[in-house]
Amino acid sequence: MKIAVLPGDGIGPEIVAQAVRVLEVLRSEGLKIEMEYAHIGGAGYDAAKDPLPEATLKLAHASDAVLLGAVGGYQYDNLPRPQRPEQGLLRIRKGLGLFANLRPAMVYPELANASSLKPEIVAGLDIMILRELTGDIYFGQPRGIRNLENGERQGFDTMLYSESEIRRIAHVGFRIAMKRNKKVCSVDKANVLDTSMLWREIVTAVGKEYPAVELSHMYVDNAAMQLVRAPKQFDVIVTGNIFGDILSDEASMLTGSIGMLPSASLDANNKGLYEPCHGSAPDIAGKNIANPLATILSVAMMMRYTFAREDVAQRIEAAVRKTLQKGLRTGDIFEDGLSKVGTDAMGDAVVAALK
Ligand code: IPM
Ligand code: MG
Repeated sequence: MKIAVLPGDGIGPEIVAQAVRVLEVLRSEGLKIEMEYAHIGGAGYDAAKDPLPEATLKLAHASDAVLLGAVGGYQYDNLPRPQRPEQGLLRIRKGLGLFANLRPAMVYPELANASSLKPEIVAGLDIMILRELTGDIYFGQPRGIRNLENGERQGFDTMLYSESEIRRIAHVGFRIAMKRNKKVCSVDKANVLDTSMLWREIVTAVGKEYPAVELSHMYVDNAAMQLVRAPKQFDVIVTGNIFGDILSDEASMLTGSIGMLPSASLDANNKGLYEPCHGSAPDIAGKNIANPLATILSVAMMMRYTFAREDVAQRIEAAVRKTLQKGLRTGDIFEDGLSKVGTDAMGDAVVAALK
């Protein structure tokens, strides 16, 4: 298991350190894990004036999986766009062909009260948001800011999806649903966008190959509403890059804290990049208060999807559950009466539970 470790910026290094401890436990038990570190995001800019240094992409190509913390920091906010930390993230996704982004939103029974929604709305929630990650308005050309004849400037981006891009993400969605509750909801804006009309047509056609899966379609504005009205109606949501970006942040809040949500970004051969859904949180960086559980749960996803070790994935998830059952909470999921702990102590507890 060759793993590239890219801690990144902000709280990235702290949370990744805890996930690496989990990998070290697994290695000490005999899993053949090799880890190598590289820079990304602002750390890449500091080291090599590039948010995705060549050496980092090379290492990622040569690895089976990538573990990533987070990117971004105030000191990089005014850099020209190509040097901004986010570009490192977008380029590594594109460069590795990681088109399928899995963002599960699960409510742990222990955390049902941490959600901003009523516990009965979210208790038992288990949905998978599948976001297409290498197309759409994120990468479409042309884009830019141009000067109009009347002297004012105009910003423009291009939303694009080709049939093959839609088809391959749809297949991933149906295959995931086959292993779950066999329901796919495809989210688009087909009442307004031509891109979405094609999206809906192709997803419907692919759906015919999976007769056991119930396919529905929903406009993105309605989906945003349904997610907070009755989220348990969903099993797998499959959607494009920009809609998935927005809906996955919304879904994260159903679970209590974005600090709990892992993600996997996969290519066609299950090579993957694993990162927490949350950002670099520069305001709390270096204070030992960030929640490392999303990153640790990302390692579980790595074991499941890239290394096909469902057994190991479940052990890590069980260790996280056990830690929550013991009442340990970082600040983002803290409730009165439980024990507030820091990043390191949360990592200690997961490592102990794993052993
Ligand atoms: C995410 C983030 C990124 C995205 C940003 C940091 C470029 O919001 O992973 O959801 O928009 O994809
Ligand atoms: Mg986002």
